[in-house]
Amino acid sequence: MKNFIVATIILAMISMVNAKTEFVPCVFCYPVPILPIITFTPDPVVAGKPANFTIETVLDKDITTGDKFAIAFVQSGITPIFEPTAVDICSEKKCPIKALTLIDMTTSVAIPADLPKEYSIMVFISDHNDPMNQSPLACGICTEGNCGSDN
Ligand SMILES: *[C@@H]1O[C@H](CO)[C@@H](O)[C@H](O)[C@H]1NC(C)=O
Repeated sequence: MKNFIVATIILAMISMVNAKTEFVPCVFCYPVPILPIITFTPDPVVAGKPANFTIETVLDKDITTGDKFAIAFVQSGITPIFEPTAVDICSEKKCPIKALTLIDMTTSVAIPADLPKEYSIMVFISDHNDPMNQSPLACGICTEGNCGSDN
């Protein structure tokens, strides 16, 4: 039942999003739930300028201390191009955040001046019980060549 509610809410959220960079499930961490709304400004990001990344989602698990909202620019699978950004969700929100509660967060990412032309952006909620990030709580990726509204 809980999964059905989450799926319904996520489908409703996806249908409200208009044309922007599209994020898809991270296949390598399947069956991790996709983050239904990921937006960033400016889209596409500009080398040397900060960008704001926003997520809105509900999860079927509680968020507790140490769980992070993370953004990684990667190439060749999952190799980060620069230090990933990771914000402790509970440092900004009252925790625990119960399952099925809307989580809405924005964080700034410093985009390096030498950002390569092709990259993927992985946006995820990491689980503090999973330090290697093999199974994040939710995840979305835009793939190389598809990480800008101009593509
Ligand atoms: C990012 O968010 C901050 C705080 O809301 C705002 O001051 C800044 O203008 C935003 N930057 C971009 C590029 O949207």
